[in-house]
Amino acid sequence: MSAQLIDGKAVAQQVLQRVADGVAARCASGARAPCLATVLVGADPASEVYVRNKRRACQQVGIQSLPLHFDSDVSEADLLAEVDRLNADAGVDGILVQLPLPAHINSIAVTERIVAHKDVDGFHPYNLGRLAQRLPVLRPCTPWGVIELLRSVGEPFKQRTAVVVGASNHVGRPMMLELMLAGATATCCHRFTADVPGEVARADILVVAVGKPGMVKGAWIKPGATVIDIGINRLDDGRLVGDCDFETARERAAWITPVPGGVGPMTVAMLMQNTLQAAGLND
Ligand code: GUN
Repeated sequence: MSAQLIDGKAVAQQVLQRVADGVAARCASGARAPCLATVLVGADPASEVYVRNKRRACQQVGIQSLPLHFDSDVSEADLLAEVDRLNADAGVDGILVQLPLPAHINSIAVTERIVAHKDVDGFHPYNLGRLAQRLPVLRPCTPWGVIELLRSVGEPFKQRTAVVVGASNHVGRPMMLELMLAGATATCCHRFTADVPGEVARADILVVAVGKPGMVKGAWIKPGATVIDIGINRLDDGRLVGDCDFETARERAAWITPVPGGVGPMTVAMLMQNTLQAAGLND
């Protein structure tokens, strides 16, 4: 078997078109365009690329972008003061502080300082709590984007076994909540899991988010599974690869996301969707 590729770029474009239509309808009704503030600290090349992609997506869908850039030695107090200003600014609907932040800044303090109704990353404890209670408001973009990708290939979720490899606060844990909300029976593998290959072998839906290139071997995967690879790792030769060994995984899976061009574009598209929704919350 050779898996079919899940085209994240194409699904993301459909989401972006929906958002663009929503922004146009909002403006036609007399409301102003939504506005997303993007806060970048320092000069991490990967973060610069991610933030540029987010600002470009704003332009594509008609969302106004407010780009803010701080030197890497900005103090935590100054960054928190900027978040306070953005929280109070009625013209700003969404606030995104790109992570990781420099080591001297407490990123949890910064994330929690963003008011929940402008938290378009969905990282605030309120938004994570709402998702845990099956009453989501602003949803973490990457896990939500994975659900959209799975829906795009007709995934039924109910009576299906999902395994998430990776238990991070921003991806693995909210991914578990999204899969349960969709109706799947979900298991999470983490650093203390006894038998990761054995858990992976049970998965109809496998989602991998660990940040280790080639960590999941094709031979572990249940034949016919749907494999979502959230990892984005740059190798020494410059190539971008995921956390699954793609060539062996595609021999067993029915569907698989490529890296790049799988989950990455969905994260940006769902951010735009959240920003449009946040504008509605702020009206
Ligand atoms: N760094 C890597 N991914 C993300 C993301 O989705 N949001 C933010 N704020 N920072 C990130």
